Amino acid sequence: MQTKFAKRVTTASRSFTRTILDLTAQSDIISFAGGLPDADLFPRKAIQKHAMHLFEHHDNRLFQYSNASGVLALKSEIAKQYPNTTHHEIMLTNGSQQGLDLVCKTFLDARDCIVVEDPSYLAALGLFHLYDVDIEAVTLHPDGIDTKGLGHVFKTKKPKFFYTIPIFQNPTGYSYSLENKREVVRLAKEYRVILLEDSPYEALRYEGVAQSSFAQLLPELTINLGTFSKTLAPDFRIGWIKAPKEIISALTLSKESTDLQNSKFFQTICAMMIQNGELHKHTQTLIAHYRHKRDIMVRALKDAFEEDVDMVIPEGGMFLWVTFKGCKDSMALFEKGIEKGVAFVPGSVFFADKRTSSFARLNYTNSTPEEIEVGVKRLYDAYAEIRA
Ligand SMILES: Cc1ncc(COP(=O)(O)O)c(C=O)c1O
Repeated sequence: MQTKFAKRVTTASRSFTRTILDLTAQSDIISFAGGLPDADLFPRKAIQKHAMHLFEHHDNRLFQYSNASGVLALKSEIAKQYPNTTHHEIMLTNGSQQGLDLVCKTFLDARDCIVVEDPSYLAALGLFHLYDVDIEAVTLHPDGIDTKGLGHVFKTKKPKFFYTIPIFQNPTGYSYSLENKREVVRLAKEYRVILLEDSPYEALRYEGVAQSSFAQLLPELTINLGTFSKTLAPDFRIGWIKAPKEIISALTLSKESTDLQNSKFFQTICAMMIQNGELHKHTQTLIAHYRHKRDIMVRALKDAFEEDVDMVIPEGGMFLWVTFKGCKDSMALFEKGIEKGVAFVPGSVFFADKRTSSFARLNYTNSTPEEIEVGVKRLYDAYAEIRA
């Protein structure tokens, strides 16, 4: 029997994320591919302590249905991160990935236009594809978006929103300068385009100074997405949306029809860890570990590849975006790398047109320092065999 899937599903290409996860499940492969936090650092003891506290101090209503927008204590804590914001402008989501989906569900009709950075986050590109929209990709530079290109698309295509990851972007690790953000804000105001600002890595700043977010610079036109996946644990599935109240109301309706609500139990633990300062302290620990791992990977790459490697060293986040100069197609390097026992994500998959490139995204947070050293050596062996 032929299964009658919707067209949007049958035209979707097999997710490269799944290919990577399948390949890297093999234990002999060192993986720089996924965007995973270091599981050894998950704050297990603190989580256990708060879970026990909840069991001891709450009755069974803790596990009852509640409202779609999330636990008040957590929304109130999140609201404090933004100027002049109350919990009415915050809703909780099943990770920021659901935030993205709810925005699409609430704003997009088929054949609408949206704008993305080129390159951009793979799972967002896959999601947008499912909504059958026209995707305009504008070049991302190390200090921000090509504002000339963005202005042209805003003017000629009238997009519903511009999807942007302005801090420690995935895949590049790039961050927008304040000047670049100001120009984006000017364009968004002129053409009335919503800025869909996705900021999962913001809290993982190792050095440098944080610039104002779009949520601060243009609150009336910004939908800001955050998550505790990178600071607490992805399995908690707690993300949030900060937006003007009327947008939060519409998004809450969409969430109700999707999954009614998320777990109050985990949201309450998260709120307690913010209130007693544990999450902040834990984030400082993560920063120290991840900075160290970034430095090890940068040095290992420079030692092995010498002049053949190029990168902008990010001030935070979880990725290095690297060019291997003697390799025109990093997909070929990926395949050779798998033979040698190392994985990364080839740059082409992050570009809207999937063009061939010498870029590679390397994650350093989920490997030990020793694995980073060995993995980079394997990568160089692979490179030496295919180098032009
Ligand atoms: C840019 C970006 N947005 C959203 C997500 C989704 O995160 P989560 O749904 O776990 O909050 C990720 C995860 O890697 C990401 O890199």
